[in-house]
Amino acid sequence: MEVKNNINSEIPTQTSLVFAVNGERFELFKVDPSTTLLEFLRSQTTFKSVKLGCGEGGCGACVVLISKYDPILDRIEDFTASSCLTLLCSIHGCSITTSEGIGNSKDGLHPIHKRVAGFHASQCGFCTPGMCVSLFGTLVNAEKTNRLDPPSGFSKLTAAEAEEAIAGNLCRCTGYRPIADAYKSFAANVDIEDLGFNSFWRKGENKDLMLSSLPQYGKNHNNVRFPLFLKEIKNDVILSSDEGSCWHSPTSLKELQSLLKLNRANGTRIKLVVSNTGMGYYKESDGYDKYIDLKGISELSKIGKDQTGIEIGAAVPISKAIEVLKEESRSDFLTEDSAMILGKLADHMSKVASRFIRNTASVGGNLVMAQKNNFPSDMATILLAVDSMVQIMTGAKFEWLALEEFFERPSLSLESVLLSIKIPSFELMGGKSDNQGCKFLFETYRASPRPLGNALPYLNAAFLAKVFMSKDTGETTIDACRLSFGAYGTKHAIRAKKVEDFLVGKVLSVHILHGAVNLLASIIVPDGGTLDAAYRSSLAAGFLLKFFNFLIDGPSKLINGCTSLPVNGSIQLNGNQNQAQHDKTPMLLSSGKQVIEDSNKYHPVGEPITKSGAAIQASGEAVFVDDIPSPPNCLHGAYIYSTKPLARITSIELRPELQRHKGVVDIISSKDIPDGGQNLGARALFSSEPLFAEEIARYIGDRLAFVVADTQKLADTAANSAIVDYDVDNLEPPILTVEDAVKRSSLHEVPPFLRPKHVGDISKGMAEADHKILSAKMNLPSQYYFYMETHTALAIPDEDNCIAVYSSIQCPQYAHATIAACLGVPENNVRVITRRVGGGFGGKSMKSICAATSCALAAHKLRRPVRIYLNRKTDMIMAGGRHPMKITYSVGFKNNGKITALDIEVLMNAGLYLDVSAIMPARLVSGLKKYDWGALSFDIKLCKTNHPNRCAMRAPGELQGSFIAEAILENVAATLSIDVDSVRSINLHTHTSLELFYLESFGEPYEYTLPSLWNKLSVSVNYDQRVEMVKEFNRVNTWKKRGLSRLPVVFEMGLRPTPGKVSIFSDGSVVVEVGGIELGQGLWTKVKQMAAFGLGEIQCEGTEGLLDKIRVVQSDTVSLIQGGLTAGSTTSGSSCEAVRLSCNILVERLKPLKEKLQKEMGSIKWETLLHQAYIQSVNLSASSFFVPTTYSKNYLNYGAAVSEVEIDLLTGETRFLQTDIIYDCGQSLNPAVDLGQIEGAFVQGLGFFMLEEYETNVDGMVLADGTWNYKIPTIDTIPKQFNVQILNTGHHKRRVLSSKASGEPPLLLAASVHCATRAAVKEARRQVLSWSNKDGTDSRFELKVPATMPVVKELIGLDIVETYLKWKMEKNSRISY
Ligand SMILES: Cc1cc2nc3c(=O)[nH]c(=O)nc-3n(C[C@H](O)[C@H](O)[C@H](O)COP(=O)(O)OP(=O)(O)OC[C@H]3O[C@@H](n4cnc5c(N)ncnc54)[C@H](O)[C@@H]3O)c2cc1C
Ligand code: FES
Ligand code: FES
Repeated sequence: MEVKNNINSEIPTQTSLVFAVNGERFELFKVDPSTTLLEFLRSQTTFKSVKLGCGEGGCGACVVLISKYDPILDRIEDFTASSCLTLLCSIHGCSITTSEGIGNSKDGLHPIHKRVAGFHASQCGFCTPGMCVSLFGTLVNAEKTNRLDPPSGFSKLTAAEAEEAIAGNLCRCTGYRPIADAYKSFAANVDIEDLGFNSFWRKGENKDLMLSSLPQYGKNHNNVRFPLFLKEIKNDVILSSDEGSCWHSPTSLKELQSLLKLNRANGTRIKLVVSNTGMGYYKESDGYDKYIDLKGISELSKIGKDQTGIEIGAAVPISKAIEVLKEESRSDFLTEDSAMILGKLADHMSKVASRFIRNTASVGGNLVMAQKNNFPSDMATILLAVDSMVQIMTGAKFEWLALEEFFERPSLSLESVLLSIKIPSFELMGGKSDNQGCKFLFETYRASPRPLGNALPYLNAAFLAKVFMSKDTGETTIDACRLSFGAYGTKHAIRAKKVEDFLVGKVLSVHILHGAVNLLASIIVPDGGTLDAAYRSSLAAGFLLKFFNFLIDGPSKLINGCTSLPVNGSIQLNGNQNQAQHDKTPMLLSSGKQVIEDSNKYHPVGEPITKSGAAIQASGEAVFVDDIPSPPNCLHGAYIYSTKPLARITSIELRPELQRHKGVVDIISSKDIPDGGQNLGARALFSSEPLFAEEIARYIGDRLAFVVADTQKLADTAANSAIVDYDVDNLEPPILTVEDAVKRSSLHEVPPFLRPKHVGDISKGMAEADHKILSAKMNLPSQYYFYMETHTALAIPDEDNCIAVYSSIQCPQYAHATIAACLGVPENNVRVITRRVGGGFGGKSMKSICAATSCALAAHKLRRPVRIYLNRKTDMIMAGGRHPMKITYSVGFKNNGKITALDIEVLMNAGLYLDVSAIMPARLVSGLKKYDWGALSFDIKLCKTNHPNRCAMRAPGELQGSFIAEAILENVAATLSIDVDSVRSINLHTHTSLELFYLESFGEPYEYTLPSLWNKLSVSVNYDQRVEMVKEFNRVNTWKKRGLSRLPVVFEMGLRPTPGKVSIFSDGSVVVEVGGIELGQGLWTKVKQMAAFGLGEIQCEGTEGLLDKIRVVQSDTVSLIQGGLTAGSTTSGSSCEAVRLSCNILVERLKPLKEKLQKEMGSIKWETLLHQAYIQSVNLSASSFFVPTTYSKNYLNYGAAVSEVEIDLLTGETRFLQTDIIYDCGQSLNPAVDLGQIEGAFVQGLGFFMLEEYETNVDGMVLADGTWNYKIPTIDTIPKQFNVQILNTGHHKRRVLSSKASGEPPLLLAASVHCATRAAVKEARRQVLSWSNKDGTDSRFELKVPATMPVVKELIGLDIVETYLKWKMEKNSRISY
C-alpha cells in the first residue's frame, strides 16, 4: 500500500478536548486518557441517567448516543455506544445525548419516556435510561432511511428493529415484554391491537382511538442536537494528563509510524486504541503512558471494493461492516453465490455482542484480540472460512497475510498495526473441477447461551463448500471446502484441514460424513481446563451434520445456499407447531396477551395506574444513591476481601506506588472500631456478622479492610491490587461442603418457633404405598441477584457525632441500629435515608447493611463524607446468593401415582453466618407442601460452611421446595411410566388436605381457587390438544423435540408489622411515608392509591383528583421508625394497610369540620376543608403501625402455568415457545403493577432454571464474576408467546382490601419451563434409544438446574451424531441388502 503523507507531520504541542453533552459544550485541557465517558458524565456533569451496571459492555445501562460529523460526506452519524468502555478522549468533536437529553420533565419528556411509563415498562428504573437511548438510536437511524413514509404517529422503525434495539440491554425486573411493547408502539408495521396491556387504552377500543391516546410521536422527536461548533473541530488532538500520560490521534500512517518509532526508542508503554471495547473483556488495571487512537487514520477506516474482493479498514466498526456486506449482497453485480455468502457473513456478525458494542467495536480490534490474546472471536472464525487476508504494517514494512497465517504467527508486536481485512471474491476460489455446474454452500453457526443477547459462543463454525450436484445420479461431489471452527477453548480459530482434505473429491454419503465426523473429533479438542469441553467438541459434529446432511437426505431442499436439516415427513404442521420451523430464525419477535380484571370498588385502589415515577426513571432524572452529588471532600471506598476460605491474615499492604499515592487516604479495618463500638457489619432478625475479619478470614469474600481514596476508580484499583499475606498454620481445614459440615457438626441453629411441623404418620403412609423410591438424590444450585444497581451507600458525618447515611437497602431500620452499635453512639445519632433501590430481590438486606456501615465507620473516623459503589465483580464474589442444597428423598405412592408419604432430607449450604437462613426450613417445607403427600416428614440442616452467608433471594426456600415437589412427581411418573400431568392432578390438595398441611393459612373453602385455576388454564390453552400437537411434532421431527408442562403453585404469605404516616399540607397536597421500600415492585404506587382511597372517604368535592396530590417520599429512619424489612412480597400490602389506618385517623379528625362546613356552605372542596383545618388547628399528620393479627397474618396464593419449549438435539439449545400463566391476585391493588411482578418474577425464575450458573471452585471462589459468564435472561430468551391472566377473586376481610401479593409466587411457575424441557429431553432420549434398536424410554434421569445447553445436550447424548450416522449406515446397508 502506498502511504500518502497528507498531513503535516509536525505534531501540535497541546490542544484541548472539545465535545458536547446534551447540547452543552465541554472543553478539557487536561485529561487522564484512561478516563471513560461514563466516569466523566457521572462525576463531572449533572447527567446521571447513564448508569454503571457492569463496566464491561454487558448490560446496556450506560448506553449513550454519539453523534459525529463526517466532513467528507457532510453528514452526521448517530450511533449508540457503551459509555463505560468509550474513552473520553475518543469523543473529541462529538455530541453525546443521554436519556435526559432526549427529553426531561423540565423541557418535556420524549414520547419514548412517556410510553415506557404507560406500558408499565419500568420497575426499579435502573436499566430504563439505557434502554430508552438504545431505542432512540435505532429510531433516529430508521428515520434516516429512504423507507416509505410511515402512517402518522408512527416512525419508520420496524417492530423487529425495536426489539433488536434492546437485545443486549439487561433488565432484571420487568421480564422485557412491556419494554418490547412500548418500543414496538413506534413501529410502522405494528398492529396496534397486538400491543400489550397499557394505560393508554383498553382492549377492544377502536384503533384510531388507541393511536390517538398514545403520547404523540412526530418529526421533532427524532432530532438529535448537534451543536454547529463541533463541525469546526479538528480531528487531530493531543491531550495529556497531570500524571504525564497522553493521548494522540494521528491522522495518517506516516504520523502513526513516527509515533511508534519514537516509542520504540524510549520504551514508553503505549496502547493502540480504536474503540476500547476490548477493555470490557481484558480489564487492564494499569494505565499506559501513551494512547494512540487509530480511528482518525483514513487507511484504517475506508472500505474498498473491486473484482478481487472487499477490503475493510481495521478500524471500521462491525456495524458498518455489516451494513456494507448487506448492501453488497443486494448488489446486481454479484453472483447469487457471492451475494449469499456476504449476506450470511453479515447475519453472523449481527450476533456479535450487542448493537451498542458493534456500533463502535472495530473489525480489526476483534481480530487483533483473537490473534494476541486468544479472544474467542466470531469474526475470526467466519472470516477464516472465506479465505480472508489481512494487511499488516510493521515499521515501514507492509505485508498481506492469509488470516490463517496471521493467527499462527507469534503475538502481534507493539509496532505492528493491522491495517485492513480483505474478503476475496468467491469466484476465485479454487477446486478440483472446473466451475461448471458447481454451487457454493455457505453457513455459519454459533451455539451460545443467548442467541442474540450478548453472549460468547461455546463454539462457532463457518463452512464454505463448492459442490457439484449431478442431475443424473442425484449425487453430490465436494469440489472444495473450508471448515473453520473457533471459540471452543482454542488459541484461535482453526481450519479443520484434515477433514477438508478427506471430503474433497468425495461423493457425499452417510459413510463419508461419518468418516468426517470421526476425523473432526480428534481436531476439535478444547485446551485443558476449558469448561464444558466435551460438549463443545460435540457441537462441531452437530454443525457438520447440519451442513451436509441435507445433501444426503434431500438436496432438493437447498434454497439459495442455505442448508438446514430436513423436517422428516411431509406432514403439514399448523398453529403453534409452525413457530419453530425456521431453524435459523432469530428469537425475536415476542408477543403476549394479558388479561386483567380491575375493580373500582375501592377506587382508585384496583386501578392499573402507571407506576409512580416511571417517566422520570426513563429520562434518568430519578435519583439513586450513587446519583446524589458527592459532597465536598467526599471519599470513596472499596473492599479488600479474602481470597482464602480460612486463613490467618498476617499483613495487608498496598502496592508501593499506591501507598505513596496521595489520593489513597486510609485503610479502614477492625482496628478502627471506635471505643464503645462493636465490630458489627450487620445485625437483623436472628443473627449478626462482623464488619471486618479480625485475625482470621473465614471465607472467600470476607471483608478484610476498606480502602478509602479520592475516587472510586482509585479505591478499586488500590483494593484490587492489595497484597494480603495469609498463613494457615494450626488452623483446621475450612468446611466447604455440606457433607463436611455434617461430619464436623457445623450447623446453624433454627429457633424453635421457626421450625416447620411434620404432617401425618410417615410409617403408615409408606406402608400404604404400592411402590417406593428410596433415597433418591438431587441438587439445587445458588443464584445471584443481579440487581442492576450494585451495593451503594453514602455516609455524611454531622455535628455532635451524628451521621446520615444514604443507602440502597431493603431494611434501613437494621442498618440504622447496626451503624449506631458499630460506632458506639446512641441510635438517635444515626439517620438512614433510602429513596429508591435499583433492584433488591432479597440481596439488598444484610449485605447492604455492611456497605452502609463501612461507609459510616470510615466517615466517622475521617470526618469526611465517604461513599461506595461496589463494582460488579466484588459484588458477585461477596453476595452469597440463593442457598444451594442437596436433597435426598424417599417417596411412597400408589399405582395411579397418588403419593402416600414423603420423607426428605435437605442439607442447605447457609455459609458462615446465619443471616436470614433461619427462615429457610419453614419456607422450603411450605413450598413443598403444595401437593398432598399423605404424610410428610423431613430433616433440614442449615450447614455452617466457610462460604459467604447465603441470604434470602426472591421466594427463598419456596422456590426450592416447590421445584423439589415437581422433581419428585416427575420421578414417580417416570417410575410408573405414566403421564406426569395426571400425577400432578391427582396429588393436588383438596381443601381438607390443605387444612392439614397449611395449619395457619388454609383459609375458607371458597378461597381455595387452585382447582378452578388448574382447569381454567387447561381450557384456555387447549391443553389436551396441545399435548397431541406436541406428540405429532415430535413424531415428524428428528432434530427438534418439544415438551409441554403444566404446574400449580401454592404459596404461603405472611404479613409483617409496618408503619405508615400521612401528612396533609395546607394546599391539600399530601405526603406519605411508609416502612416499605420502593424496590421497583410498585410499592409507592399502591401506597399512593391507598392514600387516595383512604382520604377519599371524607367525601368532599375534589377528592376524586387526590391521586395527583399525593407524594410518597423517601424512607427516613428518624422520621418513621420500625420500618422493618421489605421482603416476602407482602410489604406493599402491609404498607398500604398502615396508610389506610393513618388515613382513617385523619378522616375521623376532619369529619366534624367537614360536616360543619358542609352545613354552612352546601358543598365543600378538599382544598377549602384543608385550609380551614389549618386555621382550626386540626392535627393533619397521622401515623399508625399496622400489626397483623394471628387471624390476618397468613394466607395462601394460587396460580398455575403451562409452558411449551423446543430443544435442538444438536446444540442442546432450548427455546421457550409459549408460557401461559393464570394467577389469583385476590382483588389486585393495581393489576398493572401485579402483572409486571408476575412477568418479571417468571423471567427471573426462568434464569434460575435454565441459564444462570453461579458456581464456585472447590475453595468457594465464585467463578461467574460478571456479565461475560453470568447470563440472566435477555429479550431473546423470554417465552416468545407470553400470556398472563390475573384473576380478581372474591372478597375476604382477612386481607388488605381483599388483595393478594404477587412478587414471589410466579417465580416458582418458571419450573414449568424446566419440566417442559425435561419432557422434550425424554422424547429425544427415546429417539436416540431407537437408533440403537431399543424401544421404550429411559425417563428416570435428573435434568440439572440450570438446564443450560451443555446439560441438555449431555442428557441427549454428546455422541448423538455418531449414533445417528451409524444407525443410518446400518439402515442403508439393510435396505441395499
Ligand atoms: C460486551 C462485549 C461482547 C462481545 N461479544 C463478542 C462476540 O460475541 N463475538 C466476537 O467475536 N466478539 C465479541 N466482542 C469483542 C468485540 O468485537 C471487540 O471487543 C471489538 O471488536 C474490539 O474492537 P475495538 O475497536 O473496541 O478494539 P480496542 O478495544 O480498541 O482494541 C482491542 C485490542 O486490539 C489492539 N488493536 C486494535 N486495533 C488494532 C490495529 N488496527 N492494529 C493493532 N492493534 C490493534 C488494541 O491495542 C487492543 O489491544 C465483544 C465485546 C464486548 C465488549
Ligand atoms: S455499564 Fe456499560 S454496558 Fe454495563
Ligand atoms: S426496571 Fe429494568 S432493571 Fe429494574
